[in-house]
Amino acid sequence: MAFAFQDYPAAHDDVRGEVLAGLAAHPKAIPPKYFYDAAGCRLFDAICAQPEYTLCRTEQSLMAAHLPEIADAVGEVDCIIEPGAGDCVKVRQLLGALHPKSLVVIDIAGAPLAAAAEAVARDHPGLAVSALSMDFLRDLEAAARWLPSGRRLVYYPGSSIGNFEPEAVKALLARFRDLAGRQGRLLIGFDLKKDPLRLHAAYNDAAGMTAAFNLNLLTRLNRELDADFDLARFRHYAFYQPVRGRVEMHLVSLAEQTVRVAGESFRFALGETLHTEHSYKYRGDEFAALAESAGWQCARHWEHEGFAVQLYGACETG
Ligand SMILES: C[S@@+](CC[C@H](N)C(=O)[O-])C[C@H]1O[C@@H](n2cnc3c(N)ncnc32)[C@H](O)[C@@H]1O
Repeated sequence: MAFAFQDYPAAHDDVRGEVLAGLAAHPKAIPPKYFYDAAGCRLFDAICAQPEYTLCRTEQSLMAAHLPEIADAVGEVDCIIEPGAGDCVKVRQLLGALHPKSLVVIDIAGAPLAAAAEAVARDHPGLAVSALSMDFLRDLEAAARWLPSGRRLVYYPGSSIGNFEPEAVKALLARFRDLAGRQGRLLIGFDLKKDPLRLHAAYNDAAGMTAAFNLNLLTRLNRELDADFDLARFRHYAFYQPVRGRVEMHLVSLAEQTVRVAGESFRFALGETLHTEHSYKYRGDEFAALAESAGWQCARHWEHEGFAVQLYGACETG
């Protein structure tokens, strides 16, 4: 078995600085990457199992239904790189079809990633697996030293790209392009625009898993940044905003209150929001235009029940 794990830890001061800056902003906001502590990762898995949240299951059925065609279109690949790989379940589907020599998985949640990636390495004895615990927004370029030469595929499933503003999507996809290299390819899954009531239900599941996931961010800040958020005084609130084409997720203050975080005080007015996530939804052509502005050329498009997977190659001139 060939398995390596490398940690690129964030300095406590960087996390503190980013969270405090977000709480001082108007509106208050915290980046969604902070959802994923151990409990957040478990809650994300629970969300994926909810009947209203079909995104993960739909993507997996799409991939299963089109796998031979996708493998054919991707062609020969020496290395697969997956940023935000989580439990590595989705990349397992691709490994059997593409037979790369190496796999590099990246996630900000290092412990679950290491366990999942080591299991992949055990199940694929000929595959060199590297698991990198890092915030790829900060450290992505450090992944280059783990990449063998040859043809690379960046795999970014799960509509994780929807968490970024369009300008940030462009910047991130350009960084993926640099990582993939001149002959590189990108296989990316994203949620399509659809009936807003379906989207509303997906982010407001009856079992309350998305609400628990959202509120867990406050539990994490209480534990890691010595904060004193009272979870009963914040409401999970998620809705589809059709003008911007995104689901917005908020924690709305149910009272006038002051919260202490890392030694500083933050005042919340009644009804004030802490914006925790947005999930942009696209039409296929809209997303392709964005990716093309980042130097990718759309080669193929597959879709199934409101979810799309697109394959890109690097533009010659990009
Ligand atoms: C929505 S989950 C998707 C997981 C998996 N790719 C899937 O499709 O099921 C997003 C994953 O990205 C990771 N993640 C989010 N922001 C990240 C960042 N800035 N750097 C590294 N990993 C990140 C999270 O820890 C989580 O595992």
